[in-house]
Amino acid sequence: MSEEQIHNLRNEALSLIMGTTTQEELENLRINYLGRQGKINQATAELKNLPAEKKSVVGKIINDAKVAIENALFAQKEKLSTKDGQTTWFDPTIPSVQPQRGHLHLVTYAIEEISQIFNHLGFVRVRYPEVEWDWFAFESLNMPASHPARDEWETFFVDTKSHPKYGNMVLTPHTSSGQVREMERVKMPPIRMINIAKCYRRQSDVSHVPMFHQFEGLVVDKDISIVHLKGTLDYFARRFFGASRKIRLRPYHFQFTEPSFEVDVSCGVCNGSGCKLCKAGWLELGGAGMVHPNVLTNGGIDPSKFCGFAFGWGVERTFMMKAGIKIDDIRILYNADLRFLKQF
Ligand code: DAH
Repeated sequence: MSEEQIHNLRNEALSLIMGTTTQEELENLRINYLGRQGKINQATAELKNLPAEKKSVVGKIINDAKVAIENALFAQKEKLSTKDGQTTWFDPTIPSVQPQRGHLHLVTYAIEEISQIFNHLGFVRVRYPEVEWDWFAFESLNMPASHPARDEWETFFVDTKSHPKYGNMVLTPHTSSGQVREMERVKMPPIRMINIAKCYRRQSDVSHVPMFHQFEGLVVDKDISIVHLKGTLDYFARRFFGASRKIRLRPYHFQFTEPSFEVDVSCGVCNGSGCKLCKAGWLELGGAGMVHPNVLTNGGIDPSKFCGFAFGWGVERTFMMKAGIKIDDIRILYNADLRFLKQF
């Protein structure tokens, strides 16, 4: 074979290889050119007929042609096995595609953290029914049927027979419904309860969702005072929000505590000087107060011997204040938008 013939052989092979559309065609070409009886081997076999000085030159050209054909076969093989960018052949050494990993919801993280902080102070986390009797949700808390204060808790009623003693069935509108249940469970103070649970109210707007979470603290013992309440809330605020945050109590009214307060925490963005996020340096957290004697009596505890404090705050609200995030619409917490949830 002349040098020119070998060049032609090589060019012919390369163009045929590039024109293949199936692995089968490609394999046939490989056999045809590089197989034992293939054209490259034939050309090599003919080398011996050449004069000695030509042998090494032509031998090198044959070898170059062989390498070029091998490379072309390899490249075309890859190309044919890749369809629409998807590799259809299986390479077990390639690292696998990892499934997406999720994480806990940010409200779950907040609940974990809240329970740990109160755990440190000796509070025991409890849970009480989400579907509750009117008695525990309202009546035992000093809000008899048709009391106007109930309007604030836009309650979902369960359409079922009412209980002769406990009244209608409701979706619990606040975790305060656990107060009398806890008194009945423990029977004899001391009580240090933290009840974290889902609550339901008929409300949905930028700052309300129909299902949300609250955490309710209840302490009942001898000689409990507002100082204990303030100290507990201060401790919580410093642990949860950071060492520089402060708590203040504002007089308020709840049926089940007397006196009652609303609790504010100093704004973490402006440090109390007033900014867009807060009202004059303070953010409203939730309610608190000294347990009303009637509530103790309803829980079977003698108010002449024991007293206590309670507080109840929204988990979502409290969490948002910690993160310093201003969410325009609280409903985003629950509409399963991964773009939002992935950030926490
Ligand atoms: N249960 C009240 C609410 O949902 C919050 C609350 C206020 C809880 C005062 C308390 C309390 O324990 O003492 O708005």
